[in-house]
Amino acid sequence: MISHHGLLLTGLLAWPALGNAAVRAHTRSCRCLPTEECWPSPAEWAHFNSSVDGSLIQTTPLGTPCHAPSYDADVCDEFREEWNVPEIHYQSSSSVMAPWFANGSCDPFHPIPKPCTLGNYISYAVNVSHPGHISRALAFVTAHNLRLVIRNTGHDYQGKSTGAGALGVWTHHLKDIQIHPHHQDAHYTGPAATLGAGVQAFEAYQAADDHGYQIVGGECPTVGIAGGYTQGGGHSALSSRYGLAADQVLKWEVIDGAGNFLTATRDNEHSDLFWALSGGGGGTYGVVWSMTSKLHASTPTSGLNLTFTNANISQDTFYEAVTLFHSHLPTIVDAGVMSIFALTNTTFGITPLTGPGIPVAELESLIQPFRDDLDTLGIAHTMHTGQFDTYLDQFEAMMIDVPVGIAQYGGWLIPRSVVRENNAALTDACRQITENGGYFVGVGLNVAKGPGEVYNAVLPAWRDALIHTVLSTPWEWDNGHEMLVNQYKMTHEFVSLLERLAPRSGAYLNEGDFLQPNFQQAFYGENYPRLRRVKAKYDPNDIFYAWTGVGSDEWVGDDADGRLCRAGGHDLVSQEGYGYY
Ligand SMILES: Cc1cc2nc3c(=O)[nH]c(=O)nc-3n(C[C@H](O)[C@H](O)[C@H](O)COP(=O)(O)OP(=O)(O)OC[C@H]3O[C@@H](n4cnc5c(N)ncnc54)[C@H](O)[C@@H]3O)c2cc1C
Ligand SMILES: *[C@@H]1O[C@H](CO)[C@@H](O)[C@H](O)[C@H]1NC(C)=O
Ligand SMILES: *[C@@H]1O[C@H](CO)[C@@H](O)[C@H](O)[C@H]1NC(C)=O
Ligand SMILES: *[C@@H]1O[C@H](CO)[C@@H](O)[C@H](O)[C@H]1NC(C)=O
Ligand SMILES: *[C@@H]1O[C@H](CO)[C@@H](O)[C@H](O)[C@H]1NC(C)=O
Ligand SMILES: *[C@@H]1O[C@H](CO)[C@@H](O)[C@H](O)[C@H]1NC(C)=O
Ligand SMILES: *[C@@H]1O[C@H](CO)[C@@H](O)[C@H](O)[C@H]1NC(C)=O
Repeated sequence: MISHHGLLLTGLLAWPALGNAAVRAHTRSCRCLPTEECWPSPAEWAHFNSSVDGSLIQTTPLGTPCHAPSYDADVCDEFREEWNVPEIHYQSSSSVMAPWFANGSCDPFHPIPKPCTLGNYISYAVNVSHPGHISRALAFVTAHNLRLVIRNTGHDYQGKSTGAGALGVWTHHLKDIQIHPHHQDAHYTGPAATLGAGVQAFEAYQAADDHGYQIVGGECPTVGIAGGYTQGGGHSALSSRYGLAADQVLKWEVIDGAGNFLTATRDNEHSDLFWALSGGGGGTYGVVWSMTSKLHASTPTSGLNLTFTNANISQDTFYEAVTLFHSHLPTIVDAGVMSIFALTNTTFGITPLTGPGIPVAELESLIQPFRDDLDTLGIAHTMHTGQFDTYLDQFEAMMIDVPVGIAQYGGWLIPRSVVRENNAALTDACRQITENGGYFVGVGLNVAKGPGEVYNAVLPAWRDALIHTVLSTPWEWDNGHEMLVNQYKMTHEFVSLLERLAPRSGAYLNEGDFLQPNFQQAFYGENYPRLRRVKAKYDPNDIFYAWTGVGSDEWVGDDADGRLCRAGGHDLVSQEGYGYY
């Protein structure tokens, strides 16, 4: 009890301007922080820990060996080398890859004497291995008015998988994979896989490949396939052939906000939950336990990459090539090819084209008109092509590793009408972005779907999109002012340049600007009001919150300490009617 009051005192001393009454009012409309009296006592944490079979982990930030008093040069040097690769982060119960949200509170890039603080990291995590662990965690945060974070791999760019004073539900170890050669329901007959919430793309790819299949997953092998990725939509090198990851889902097993273990399919009584979880954003409607998705018969897969620079040509000629590439993209993606391409003001790279079921000769002939254009413009380029037995082989040989923790992001979906009708203006925007320090990545695809073909909450703008753009600015650990300038630039210059070309389009919620104005419309479009109603139904106590998630606009983060509060200071809802699993 003494240490408990000690913590409260620290909290009060940090805000001397607040009187007692203010603090009390605060705690009613805000989630509890470790510095407050409402925070569970050590005995309550211990009791909770035994209720989840001893799986509770108190956060020690990953970067602790890089700071006094725990400094360890060998470990820290290794961390500094590895901080930009995902592995160490997803093996941790608390670390996140997005540097803005890690907020410099404990990492290898700050002075050793600066002590580590929890900052924006979660306080505790439940290392889940049973559905009951999840429902008990939900009951505990509900009873104690704590912030909840669902954390899988920590890849999220929007800060969804972290939060000050939160209890994390850590799904990383839910690695179960089941292959069903003969799934059958009213809408689909064929092979499927059930993936535990912690399965990562590389594990799903391998399991599918082992059985003669391929599965829609992302370009980064370590993203969690059933987590934020598929729940947010999920684009893939296979998407021009099969659609988005959310389009593949057949069934979700999920623990809702009241602690009930539910099965949601397109046709059962929880079809509204099925609809919302399939593209309506992670961390919002429930905690996913497993996902059952379509598998596709393995196909030989071709790959092609192509690069050139601005050497020996004018900038006008360089950007003219970009215009021409965009003009050829519709034909390329309509053939079932997905293209990643990257642009700076000096380099252009197709990295790569992926052609599932498309012979490499056909891939080469799809790119030939662009190569002819390059010849006409006098641009020398390098090209590599390959024919592989499977998608997995192509992926391993040609997909580029994406480093993490090196940038801040934003994006916009470019409809094909822009390329058809306004291609020069698109190039002007690309040019302004790349000449002002922005890095431009395009994901060229065709994920159009006919009416009724899929039933999900994917942002409708995806169906008209030709290019999902991912813009970024470089991250520097010791230049906070410049990072804020870059954020302003991203929101008010880079993204708005693209937005102006297609204001009725939108942005991919997983790879957009976390400060996107009017994010409800941009990330969710016309689905927002219905998604909000589904959240209300399955999260009656409003415990799910994720930055830019549906309903997140009803909360505000307190800048000083990361405290999460009801916008407008409304009292938190009553906590009755809790159904234990
Ligand atoms: C290097 C890199 C490459 C990427 N490549 C691609 C790509 O090719 N295609 C693409 O579409 N996206 C890509 N992304 C974006 C990626 O889809 C998102 O970052 C996504 O949020 C990652 O999901 P996660 O579960 O692995 O991450 P986490 O950060 O652990 O989780 C992200 C969010 O999902 C929620 N969530 C996670 N698990 C669950 C669960 N079981 N139940 C409910 N909510 C859950 C969390 O609450 C959080 O809100 C990439 C990101 C990175 C960093
Ligand atoms: C939870 O209990 C387990 C088993 O007793 C223990 O190893 C672990 O340290 C406990 N966690 C916390 C945060 O006390
Ligand atoms: C989490 O639980 C898994 C078993 O589900 C175990 O293998 C792993 O070591 C645990 N991790 C931590 C950090 O406790
Ligand atoms: C292109 O692919 C080849 C393998 O086919 C690879 O060696 C090369 O590094 C790739 N180049 C780029 C720019 O991705
Ligand atoms: C640019 O010109 C120089 C000199 O003529 C030549 O050596 C170089 O190969 C050229 N580079 C490209 C990419 O065309
Ligand atoms: C290219 O962009 C950089 C900023 O990233 C800028 O400093 C440089 O002047 C630009 N060069 C040209 C030719 O636009
Ligand atoms: C980072 O920490 C500072 C205080 O050091 C705080 O003002 C800011 O809100 C924090 N940002 C995030 C994203 O947590």
